[in-house]
Amino acid sequence: MFLRNYWYVGAYSDEVTCEPLGRVLLGEPVVLYRTEAGAPVALEDRCAHRLLPLSMGKVIGDAIQCHYHALEFDGTGACVRIPGQERIPPQMKVKSYPVVERDNCVFVWMGDAKDADESKVPEIFGKLCQDGWSATKVHCHVEGNYQLVIDNLLDLSHLATVHASTVGSMHVADMANVETERDGDRVKVSRWTMDVPAAKTYQQFGNYESNIDRWQISEFFPPSYFRINNGSAVAGTGAREGTGEKPWDFWVCHGITPSTQDSTHYFWHLGHRLWTDNMADVEQFYEQCYGVVGEDIAVFEAQQKTINLDPAAPMREIGYDAGPLLARQIIDRLLQEEAAQKSGKAA
Ligand code: FES
Ligand SMILES: [Fe+2]
Repeated sequence: MFLRNYWYVGAYSDEVTCEPLGRVLLGEPVVLYRTEAGAPVALEDRCAHRLLPLSMGKVIGDAIQCHYHALEFDGTGACVRIPGQERIPPQMKVKSYPVVERDNCVFVWMGDAKDADESKVPEIFGKLCQDGWSATKVHCHVEGNYQLVIDNLLDLSHLATVHASTVGSMHVADMANVETERDGDRVKVSRWTMDVPAAKTYQQFGNYESNIDRWQISEFFPPSYFRINNGSAVAGTGAREGTGEKPWDFWVCHGITPSTQDSTHYFWHLGHRLWTDNMADVEQFYEQCYGVVGEDIAVFEAQQKTINLDPAAPMREIGYDAGPLLARQIIDRLLQEEAAQKSGKAA
């Protein structure tokens, strides 16, 4: 079950071209491409004739041509050409999805098209596109359920072990002061770890000569977006008050789009004020961060494999699960509301 009445990241802008891109979003096959004028289009990736994915075909003008028998569908999903016949049956069409392009992303509305409201496109990645900032991004296909990713990002104690060679140290699990707040359907988990030696990444790029105070502020909002600020300053110089010396921080924004029940499109976008003009240093920092993403994905995929062996195996809770549990409760409630709304509409 997925929340449907939301805008999801379907692709980064630079992934959508005049070459069709096939992607499964919320269990539905979707093909993305651009018209001649450059507008993004999202259609059902399943030809109305014999169900071949349209993404195997090619874009001709503003339409997409199926690879099998050359039927063509325009950006509204209407069939506009059947080779060898004049008549186009009205049922020969595919679903079209509302799309909005913003902040380097193509957002796709996965609910009823008539409910698509552009004002609800999340302001998620815009912060990372500011002047004087540098940013990088990756899209990963994860063989794991999207809620495993949400759990992970609301409990950053896992840096202690999963990312011990770069951004983590045992202090963030053992010594963090953690506060979990809920504001409507948003969840914020703030972690402060005071007066500890800098983990490798912080030492290398923050250039600290003494202990640091470090923060990890993770904000979740439905259906599955995150904005996370990670940073540090010299210990005891007022990091929490915003006056810390040698502050060094970065933001990671995440768009998590379920693909199937046990796979996920993970749009990970990192940005920061430039702390150096040595771009080789910045590239090294990014390399460490890509490694961090890979370490998380290895965890999600291993979890999913054990879940698949026995889907009924229970998960037990610890104190740090307060944030993940809140997010799961919010998603469950919203799923129930959508189901009730749908059955009300059907009645
Ligand atoms: S399957 Fe697409 S044209 Fe026949
Ligand atoms: Fe992680």
